Amino acid sequence: MKVAVYGASGYTGRLVTAEARRRGLEVVVSGRDTSRLREVAEGAEVRVAGVDDAAALARAFDGCDVVVACAGPFSRIGDPVVRAAITAGAHYVDTSAEQLFLRHVFDTYAERAEQAGVSVVPAAGFDILPGDMIAHLAGAEVEPLDELTIAYQTNDIDMTRGTIRSSLQVVLDGDLAYEDGQWRRAEGLAVKRTSFTFPGQSGERQTARWPGAEIVTVPRHVRARRVEIITDAAVFTPEMISLMQLPADQWDAIIGQLPEGPSEERRPVADFTIVAEAVGVDGRRATGAVHATDIYGSAAVFTVEAARRLAAGEAKAGVLSPAQAFDSAAFLDWLAPYGVEWNVVAGDQANAS
Ligand SMILES: NC(=O)c1ccc[n+]([C@@H]2O[C@H](COP(=O)([O-])OP(=O)(O)OC[C@H]3O[C@@H](n4cnc5c(N)ncnc54)[C@H](OP(=O)(O)O)[C@@H]3O)[C@@H](O)[C@H]2O)c1
Repeated sequence: MKVAVYGASGYTGRLVTAEARRRGLEVVVSGRDTSRLREVAEGAEVRVAGVDDAAALARAFDGCDVVVACAGPFSRIGDPVVRAAITAGAHYVDTSAEQLFLRHVFDTYAERAEQAGVSVVPAAGFDILPGDMIAHLAGAEVEPLDELTIAYQTNDIDMTRGTIRSSLQVVLDGDLAYEDGQWRRAEGLAVKRTSFTFPGQSGERQTARWPGAEIVTVPRHVRARRVEIITDAAVFTPEMISLMQLPADQWDAIIGQLPEGPSEERRPVADFTIVAEAVGVDGRRATGAVHATDIYGSAAVFTVEAARRLAAGEAKAGVLSPAQAFDSAAFLDWLAPYGVEWNVVAGDQANAS
């Protein structure tokens, strides 16, 4: 199986390239800069193509079974990579988590991907893949739902420059809400759940609205009147808040001075928990939770396994969320040796936090 990693020179691209090699896949490293790609190639074929050259991009993916896109922010540079993968007849996965990019990919490429016979699975990284899957598993217990709350808690995460850039892009782009069976701009919408008790913790944590891309993916496979995504408010560090308050044209210069991402020592320490709390229209409840460590290492494991499954023909053609592409329980179980733990509790034990 041959996999092209686009953006292989970035922090996440390097982890994905290393993971693909570890899994014994043939890797093509791709991106815009020859010398940066050569630094990470370690003997792999290098194919250079910028996002502004559609023909070169499609040639870069020629003969590859799957493209794993790791170059972001996706809402700025992601579209040509998806298009080129479809043109080249390659399946596609990425590490995106930007709502408007996700919506664009579903709206623009569903038919083309089907016609080309390829599966396009954006948002297969650490947050949206497990979030989409745990929401699917909890939701399936008590559908149709009146309300689905997805709650995030991350600890000890040192964000990469790429994550900070993409998060700030989301601030610029604005986020979406899903209510009464439709998407709309979230501006001005207060979060309904302002506190949440995460598994294994005794006290309530203050929460805030989180622009999670599950708002785009989950309503495609869970019948819900309303979906809300919240996060432990502690994720908004004073540094992040100060950066958000600066004019957007100053962001790039400041981010450029930050470390590229967590060190090898710090990276495995980070952990995340995602809880999906489903309330059926009949009042029944189900709660799912997924937990893992090493956020960026997990993103590499998830995307490479998703790519491998697509190349093996596990998913149908079209644009799909992770839970639409794969059997969620089987995928999460497969991740157990990588420290991913999950459960779903339905009925009386699934009380609201
Ligand atoms: N959801 C997840 O699990 C997850 C995890 C990690 C990252 N991400 C996302 O993945 C993306 C990359 O993150 P990162 O931490 O790896 O960032 P990074 O270290 O800054 O790497 C960015 C990559 O994108 C490439 N790139 C940037 N602008 C480009 C352009 N105009 N044309 C072509 N290539 C371009 C860079 O190429 P050069 O090397 O040539 O500059 C580099 O390869 C971000 O959107 C981030 O939010 C998501």
